[in-house]
Amino acid sequence: MQNKIALDKIKLLFYVTLPEIKKFIRDFHREMQKGLCGKKSSLKMIHTYLRRPTGAEKGRFLALDLGGTHFRVMLMELKGNGKTGACPVKTFVLKKKHTTGKGKALFAFLAGCIGAFMKEHKLDTQARYNVGFTFSFPVKKKDADSGVLIRWTKDFSASGVEGKDVVKLLNIALKESGITGAKITALLNDTVSTLVARSYTEPDCDVGVILGTGTNACYPEKNGEIINIEWGNFNKLRRTHCDREVDRRSGNPGEQFLEKMVSGMYLGEVIRCLAAELLPRIELPRGFKSEYVSVIEADTSKGLRKTDNLLKKVGIRGSKHRDRKLLKKACVMVSARAARLASAAIASVLTKMDPTLSRRHTVAIDGAVYEKHPCFSHRIRATLKEIFGKDARRIKLVLTKDASAKGAAVIAATR
Ligand code: GLC
Repeated sequence: MQNKIALDKIKLLFYVTLPEIKKFIRDFHREMQKGLCGKKSSLKMIHTYLRRPTGAEKGRFLALDLGGTHFRVMLMELKGNGKTGACPVKTFVLKKKHTTGKGKALFAFLAGCIGAFMKEHKLDTQARYNVGFTFSFPVKKKDADSGVLIRWTKDFSASGVEGKDVVKLLNIALKESGITGAKITALLNDTVSTLVARSYTEPDCDVGVILGTGTNACYPEKNGEIINIEWGNFNKLRRTHCDREVDRRSGNPGEQFLEKMVSGMYLGEVIRCLAAELLPRIELPRGFKSEYVSVIEADTSKGLRKTDNLLKKVGIRGSKHRDRKLLKKACVMVSARAARLASAAIASVLTKMDPTLSRRHTVAIDGAVYEKHPCFSHRIRATLKEIFGKDARRIKLVLTKDASAKGAAVIAATR
């Protein structure tokens, strides 16, 4: 009985009510407005100096994508009419020494990857190529093809990069490795690439969202310029003691509160904290991955056998069925809250553009949390329905995979 009361209390703590969602939307609009006017706000509302493509762009372009655990290089052929040709891509794994070591070494590594890709595809390193660079961190921009890193997020901490123009840093590294023809003509965020990649084939698309390692979104303002919201830093939120603990232990305490409640990098950590309270006998290891959360929530096997196997894999033996049921409940509470908050953020962006939702909107979404979690996308849809009623039919959510690189190539073509 005691346990049941404790569990019910925790459920309430993690449940985001509809009035709370409505307040979220009001606060989000206020923060957006302040950010747009250059006032102090948790939403940076970064001007990108970029617009959506028309679909007519043509040619061969190089695309680079840095933002999480991998660096990707892609060569993309655009045929016009929203059509694309072959787009070979190579993915390089980033090691901790790259993401947390010296910035110079990180950029030298990136240049090395680009060189290896060009060699493999027999591209002349001296010939001119327009390059789009997706760099998924908050940057201060004054034009389309440069950007000063404001602050690393997602536990990157490479030294000597914050406060510097990352395009300059990459250009220096490219020169040093003998690649003289590649010209970076656009620097963009992964949300912008996602929006751009989708709108090349679907001009209705007007929101780009990432629900992956981190979370963020962008949309075109009234004048057509795409604004990178950096919504991961939204902070008008009701946080729990678990959120506070995760924040305290993170590489950037006091920042990215929404990201720490929604994105894949932190979901497992919030669950770990909650599980420590609900299941003191079981201590989940640090770095409990969000992939595991997907496995546990999808587990309908008898006695939650799959969860048991997973727990054994992370070194926990002898869990009881009761423990596994509780762990599954903890996963559902935390990830359902994440989906409700993500829906509230999507609803805020849509109603900023179109307060009465009088038009159709396509929201392009990329990221492992949206793609791989068994219930995330359904929960987002259900919450949008709760917020907008029948009008939610005007919102189309589309998974837009590998858009981070593709969008960079498309943008390079517009420059
Ligand atoms: C973090 C970054 C942001 C990016 C997001 C998704 O929030 O600050 O720029 O778009 O992660 O990768």
